[in-house]
Amino acid sequence: MASSRSILFVTGEVAPFVKTGGLADVSAALPLALVEMGHDVRIIAPKYGNISERRNRIHEIKRLKDIPIEVNGKESMATVKSSQVVNTKSKVQVYLVTSDVYFEPNKGAYVNPKTGKEFPNNDERFIFFQKAAIETCFRLGWKPDIIHCNDWQTGLIPVMLKELYGDDDFFKGTKSVFTVHNLGYQGEFPKASFDKTGLDSSLFTAKGVAHNKNLNMMKAGLLFADEVTTVSPTYATEITKKENGAGLESVVRKIKGKLTGILNGVDTEEWNPSVDKLIDEKYDADSLEDKYDNKKALGKKVGFKANEERPVVCMIARMVDQKGYDLIIESLPELGKLDAEFVILGEGTGPIVKKLEKGAKKLDNVHVTIGYDEKSAHLMFAGSDFVLMPSKYEPSGLNQMYGMAYGTVPIVRATGGLIDSVSQVDVAKGTGEGVLFKPYTSAAMLKAVNQALSLYEDEETFEDLQKRIMAVDVSWSNAATTYSEDIYAD
Ligand code: ADP
Ligand code: GLC
Repeated sequence: MASSRSILFVTGEVAPFVKTGGLADVSAALPLALVEMGHDVRIIAPKYGNISERRNRIHEIKRLKDIPIEVNGKESMATVKSSQVVNTKSKVQVYLVTSDVYFEPNKGAYVNPKTGKEFPNNDERFIFFQKAAIETCFRLGWKPDIIHCNDWQTGLIPVMLKELYGDDDFFKGTKSVFTVHNLGYQGEFPKASFDKTGLDSSLFTAKGVAHNKNLNMMKAGLLFADEVTTVSPTYATEITKKENGAGLESVVRKIKGKLTGILNGVDTEEWNPSVDKLIDEKYDADSLEDKYDNKKALGKKVGFKANEERPVVCMIARMVDQKGYDLIIESLPELGKLDAEFVILGEGTGPIVKKLEKGAKKLDNVHVTIGYDEKSAHLMFAGSDFVLMPSKYEPSGLNQMYGMAYGTVPIVRATGGLIDSVSQVDVAKGTGEGVLFKPYTSAAMLKAVNQALSLYEDEETFEDLQKRIMAVDVSWSNAATTYSEDIYAD
């Protein structure tokens, strides 16, 4: 392997402390895989007000107490606490940044769970966090070889390293890596927010960190990081174009030379039906008949009577446009006619929730649960035959890989990381992992669903398919090797 590196992994969320989406899973699983390869990796994330210190075994570290951080000319204290993420093979040090001003009062990561709106001081919260991450290195006297930043919440760090600390010997030789998990969220704030950063005003130009006259933290990361990655090869190409560039396509094109697409993996210990603590009936590829008990349990939980002949299709996704809910809502009358159960789980507050609940209420075979529930998610993968992902765009996607690990066949739109992880089933050849559709229309989605359901009709074909997808290596080992050898190496 490449030589051992010290890596600070900076992220807005990390499981199991806080999770709003796949970034939290990646933020735990990739560092664990890297530690296993021999790297010294430490994670740093904010400790939001709803993260319990007791439940998460979070402890104080004397020398990381009361670190003064300046935001908008005002100083307040960051106290950095310590915890770990662990699996049976390795453990990773986690630093959690606490603040009585910016994090403790808010019971959420980016959005106020009560109103569904972003916190109005997200600019200050994440300027504070990013500075605190850098200052923590100083306090520890630890010079990481790599600072690996993730999404807009960390996009200013590469700028700060160059512009605020560039002359300091401490970070000489430290390389910044910036990973785009989702270009749809850019951390855009007015010029006044830029003025709170302490960065030189000359940086606030269209060539610098300004975009459409706003501060754009995503753009900052793209431009200033030494290396940029995104979470699948296909998405790396898609974001150079208008359709998926979210207005930053020209910036992405400009930095193409330092951009690499690396498909995410999944934690194959946590997402493994033979040891999954969150399901009652464990199973593996040789005991697929036991998967049926999970279908029964799922039916009991959401309200259907399990039947061997009747397939179950699940969907687990944030209730946002990206995930393709408009196609689901439009198709509800048709889904209601199919000989299958549909089980949907997602967190959200907007119009999608209302429309989906209203449409599903009339149907006996569509079961919608609003909210965030880790245990239900595991039961859904274990108890379903298919996992549906009609995403408008999908940088990587993890659910299709969780599905594969559970013998739950993905039905996905051909976009982003879904293309890189699922290929079309060919029954005659005995190849492929799932069913794909291309046009973003409910007709194309319904066609794919029907095709999938017909695969289920032939028991032998379906079982072969389940065994085939359960054998696919969806672990982090490929991606972690690429990070280690291509991205972190000198
Ligand atoms: P994204 O990051 O865009 O939300 P991913 O597919 O990368 O999409 O990751 C989403 C992760 O969050 C998956 O692990 C998924 O199972 C989980 N998830 C999403 N919504 C819920 C929910 N309501 N309850 C439990 N888990 C959820
Ligand atoms: C983002 C993307 C998702 C990806 C996840 C982790 O939230 O929407 O596709 O899997 O980040 O990289």
